[in-house]
Amino acid sequence: MTSTHQSPGASAATPDVVGRGAEALREAIARSLLSARERTRLLTECVEDGDLVRQHSPLMSPLVWDLAHIANQEELWLLRSVGGQEPLHPEIDPLYDAFEHPRTERPTLPLLPPQEARAYGKTVRSRVLDLLESATFGGAPLVSGGFAFGMIAQHEQQHDETMLITHQLRTGAPALSAAPPGPAADALRLPAEVLVPGGPFVMGTSTEPWALDNERPAHTVPVAPFYLDTTPVTNAAYQEFIADSGYDNPRWWSEAGWEHRQRAGLTAPLFWRREGSGWVRTRFGATEPVPPAEPVLHVSWYEASAYAAWAGRRLPTEAEWEKAARFDPAAGRSRRYPWGDGEASPERANLGQRHLQPAPAGSYPGGAAPCGARQLIGDVWEWTSSDFLPYPGFRAWPYREYSEVFFGSEYKVLRGGSFAVAPVVSRGTFRNWDYPVRRQIFAGFRTARDAAPA
Ligand code: AVJ
Ligand code: FE
Repeated sequence: MTSTHQSPGASAATPDVVGRGAEALREAIARSLLSARERTRLLTECVEDGDLVRQHSPLMSPLVWDLAHIANQEELWLLRSVGGQEPLHPEIDPLYDAFEHPRTERPTLPLLPPQEARAYGKTVRSRVLDLLESATFGGAPLVSGGFAFGMIAQHEQQHDETMLITHQLRTGAPALSAAPPGPAADALRLPAEVLVPGGPFVMGTSTEPWALDNERPAHTVPVAPFYLDTTPVTNAAYQEFIADSGYDNPRWWSEAGWEHRQRAGLTAPLFWRREGSGWVRTRFGATEPVPPAEPVLHVSWYEASAYAAWAGRRLPTEAEWEKAARFDPAAGRSRRYPWGDGEASPERANLGQRHLQPAPAGSYPGGAAPCGARQLIGDVWEWTSSDFLPYPGFRAWPYREYSEVFFGSEYKVLRGGSFAVAPVVSRGTFRNWDYPVRRQIFAGFRTARDAAPA
């Protein structure tokens, strides 16, 4: 731990985590840890051991690395830091330190084989549940509001999204399936864009108990009025950009974007292929026609920016995105989620790998923001125009390697979470980041334009 500031306040207005006493918090923590583990199990038991130890893409770790890394982080933060216990296998720590070994190197390491990785995870978890029985959540900042437990539940769920990306890159017979989301009932009646009023709003949080360091502290940000797409950009709209030779016209691309487009030979989103007069895509091992109404997925920041320029628009800034998602003009305050302060539910957002694809644009009226925008949480990560930078007053906590070492103009911010994101990491303040060339992530985007000041 490098600092003890910004302890997640136990007075935070978070209905599901704080304010119901230690017993309720203990139950909420146990549920979060359990649902993460159920997902991890599903993602690692649906393939043979050979598929767990193989590297499916140089961009990704072997699944068995994620499996033991999840357990190792849980041991480090909960058993050792919170519980003061001795290391179970100190010799393996360096293998699972993401900073000692880049992903490309991980398959060559003497990793725990699948059965041992599973056993390690089980031992750690059963000790964590024992620790939780007697844990108190008042004093030390690391456990205040259950933070360290929440951080670990979120960490496992983040790796569950990473592992789902590995599944998408894996070749061979399909191993995963899920029911598709239903149709969007009133999508055709929705306006193309919504107005987000200008004025300051509170971005980030100082009270959300499980918010990670980069979401802190809350601070006031001025935002000029702007229009935002009501929904993420669809495959149908993106196909118009392709059909209009968008990939061949440098006019729509930044200099770096065009250079990348040329070098990488980009002509369509990742996993798309032309077939006859249309497009098909592969999704978790199956090939299917590209669904026109679905938000576009697997485009880089460069492609998203080029599309926006072609459409006569731009990507929203990160502050614009968060204002659209959280600001309630009637109450004059920022909400936890677009729909209010209550937790995510299947009526509000497509989250948690319940479906293995985004829902059609215009779905989830129950999750609409006050400005009228839909699907800000869930479905697809949304590229913003912003670099990944610290908020004013940022302090690394509890470790520098979560956020601080990534700050700078190399990374662009993504917001809102995808269908692969768990509710526990879907807060309106949550920040994700990646290189502008990345396409294997579950990322799409929506576009914006300036509005005349009122
Ligand atoms: C926040 C998704 C960029 O996967 O690199 C997992 C999350 N940090 N383990 C990543 C994370 C440490 C992180 N992202
Ligand atoms: Fe990690």
